[in-house]
Amino acid sequence: METISLLHNRRILLGVTGGIAVYKVCTLASRLTQAGGVVDVVMTEAATRFVTPLTFEALTGRPAYTDMWRTSDGSDTAALPTHIAHIGLAHAADLLVVAPATANTMAKLAAGIADNLLTTLALATSCPILLVPTMDAGMWSHPATQANAVTLRERGVHIAGPAQGRMASGLEGEGRMVEPDDILGHVRLVLGREGPLARRRIVVTAGPTREFIDPVRFLGNPSSGRQGFALAQAALDLGASVTLITGPTPLPTPIGATRVEITTAQEMHNAVLLAIEKADVLLMAAAVADYRPETIAPSKIKKGDKGLIPRLVRTPDILSAVAIRWAESGFPRVVVGFAAESEDVVENARTKLTTKNLDLIVANDITAQDAGFAVETNRVTLIGRNGQAEELPLTSKTGVAEAVLKRVVELLAQRHPGGTSE
Ligand code: CTP
Repeated sequence: METISLLHNRRILLGVTGGIAVYKVCTLASRLTQAGGVVDVVMTEAATRFVTPLTFEALTGRPAYTDMWRTSDGSDTAALPTHIAHIGLAHAADLLVVAPATANTMAKLAAGIADNLLTTLALATSCPILLVPTMDAGMWSHPATQANAVTLRERGVHIAGPAQGRMASGLEGEGRMVEPDDILGHVRLVLGREGPLARRRIVVTAGPTREFIDPVRFLGNPSSGRQGFALAQAALDLGASVTLITGPTPLPTPIGATRVEITTAQEMHNAVLLAIEKADVLLMAAAVADYRPETIAPSKIKKGDKGLIPRLVRTPDILSAVAIRWAESGFPRVVVGFAAESEDVVENARTKLTTKNLDLIVANDITAQDAGFAVETNRVTLIGRNGQAEELPLTSKTGVAEAVLKRVVELLAQRHPGGTSE
């Protein structure tokens, strides 16, 4: 798994309470650690009935703490009670995640009860808290639990889930734990929310468009949407509020982004013009079709003996439409385009930068095996308004996204320090 810049060396206290979903929290502990986080696990006594501390120690490479009076290796700490020794943990933490969070632990946290190491740390810490409720058989919908959730939210505690689905008892309902990858997304959202793009609104486009010839055939392209989705995640990591307008792709929505699904270039055009009304930045990574069939046959085209030449007409150029709209508003914003080129990459990209009135263009050589469409990596050159080209080494699409967002932060700071959404 790739490291996540936002999580690098961040101290995460992972509070584990007693529920069958503990087995999935092992995956979460592993993901957080692999992402670069420093993960300290604190288990309640009930949690240790499901998984031993040793499991978490192996996954995080750090001691797992169980009760207030004993360390995980079983040695008595009478000389210095661990609830005092571990107050250091509470103070060092950047985030406390409680997963799974049982109804019982939520009730204690709402009431301010500190009767075990985890609840003591929760009271002692001033870092943000993310709860991942998990409970069976209607316990979540019980008025007592609901009231506790309201109290905790009012106090600024973040709550992820629970999700709807099958629970350990076999019952269907609301109470399943959010999946580890989604918990990771919530962790990023909480850690990033005061980042350099806080209160900025960013519209990202991603993926291909499809231009239908008849009800079952279309002109498309092999864009996977990965680069656009990576941009959306990188913007969220910096605290932005993100609208992700995407063509068809199975990629999961980064947690916190608002996803708008479109199919054709015209639909993307309409969705973008609507979304940018209140936005500070547009990152146009979608592979938009330049042509569409003039007409769409109402029923499936039957094959004949001769060839078939569908007549194509132009689709709207979205970036050009945005440039006109934003020029009319008179408000300086940041527009980033992508240039998919197969020859004279930098020269062609410079021309697009000027004609489409962009602040930055990300030039992409789509003939390279390891870059461009439908691969994990990308090899790009960033070109700003002054024409200067910055060639990035071969990197992941996340790496490209982070480099682009770094430039966006700089451009916004030069333009208007306040943000439109304030
Ligand atoms: N783009 C757009 N609207 C279109 C086509 C492209 O806004 N109808 C955007 C893309 O999302 C990208 C940039 O324009 O950010 C450049 O796209 P690209 O396909 O490289 O260039 P085109 O303008 O389509 O020019 P050409 O295909 O001739 O290279």
